[in-house]
Amino acid sequence: MKVSTTRVLLTGANGGIGQAVATALAGAGASVLLAGRSPARLSAQVRTIQRRHPTAKLDWREVELDQAASIAALANHAAAWNCNVIVHCAGVAEFGPFDHTGVDRMSQVLHTNLLAPMMLTQSMLPHLRALPHAQVVCVGSVLGAIGLPGFSVYCASKFGLRGFAQALRRELAKTSVRVQYLGPRSTRTAFNSAAVSDYNQATGTAMDPPERVAEALLDMLETETAERFLGFPEKVAARLNGLVPAWLDGAFDKHSASLPKSPDQPNPPTTQETSHAR
Ligand SMILES: NC(=O)c1ccc[n+]([C@@H]2O[C@H](COP(=O)([O-])OP(=O)(O)OC[C@H]3O[C@@H](n4cnc5c(N)ncnc54)[C@H](OP(=O)(O)O)[C@@H]3O)[C@@H](O)[C@H]2O)c1
Repeated sequence: MKVSTTRVLLTGANGGIGQAVATALAGAGASVLLAGRSPARLSAQVRTIQRRHPTAKLDWREVELDQAASIAALANHAAAWNCNVIVHCAGVAEFGPFDHTGVDRMSQVLHTNLLAPMMLTQSMLPHLRALPHAQVVCVGSVLGAIGLPGFSVYCASKFGLRGFAQALRRELAKTSVRVQYLGPRSTRTAFNSAAVSDYNQATGTAMDPPERVAEALLDMLETETAERFLGFPEKVAARLNGLVPAWLDGAFDKHSASLPKSPDQPNPPTTQETSHAR
């Protein structure tokens, strides 16, 4: 779809990637409904974008994606606003040894990153299917295709999101609705804690600016590419991991060694202790 004809509902609009996407969409002539949790930050962002692009067509709406009623209210509002594209950009991070993550946190990550986009898509489908053309773009991650030590819960959510996007794309293939998945690599936003930055540095992981993700997303809207991963070697690793994951199992020792230590985890035995035990 031509970006200038899109009417985009953008979740996570106040986030680092969301801000870059909203600005790029507005600059390209799209109409954007910015959705986020803070009315003050949403209205401030609309003013900022409008200063840069005075003719920008922007609106905003508060949403709490952890609440079903709030998702339903957003879907109704977006349908009445005549949205023809959803960009699911809201998400939460989770990093560290798996045994650090409590079940409440696991549930929150899976809800925000996976269940909420599924619920919002489902609520909007009757409206989208009635349009001559509509698109749903899931902002996932390369970690929706590569299981990385330290990101087991986050990977579970993004692998799930990619599976959802792929299955729904095939299910809706004969309808007017296209479903797409964008997998950025690590991106310079507040999403990444200092611990993730240390891990990235220790493992030589590159980070993109959020504008790079926005540029790819606008390109995907125009080209309607089904699935795209960003960055080299990440995009090759994502494809290879899909074909022969066992080949990559040995490639992440440095990543495992670079994880923050769990306070509950006993230190690994020293070589001396190991040889005494033999
Ligand atoms: N940054 C990266 O390294 C990276 C890499 C690959 C993929 N991604 C994906 O890209 C997307 C955007 O990431 P980002 O870097 O822009 O992160 P970010 O700066 O932390 O922004 C995340 C956004 O999600 C919103 N959000 C979180 N929980 C929500 C909830 N319960 N209800 C409503 N909104 C909620 C936040 O709202 P508030 O503003 O109200 O907090 C925020 O606007 C995420 O899906 C992430 O998984 C990020």
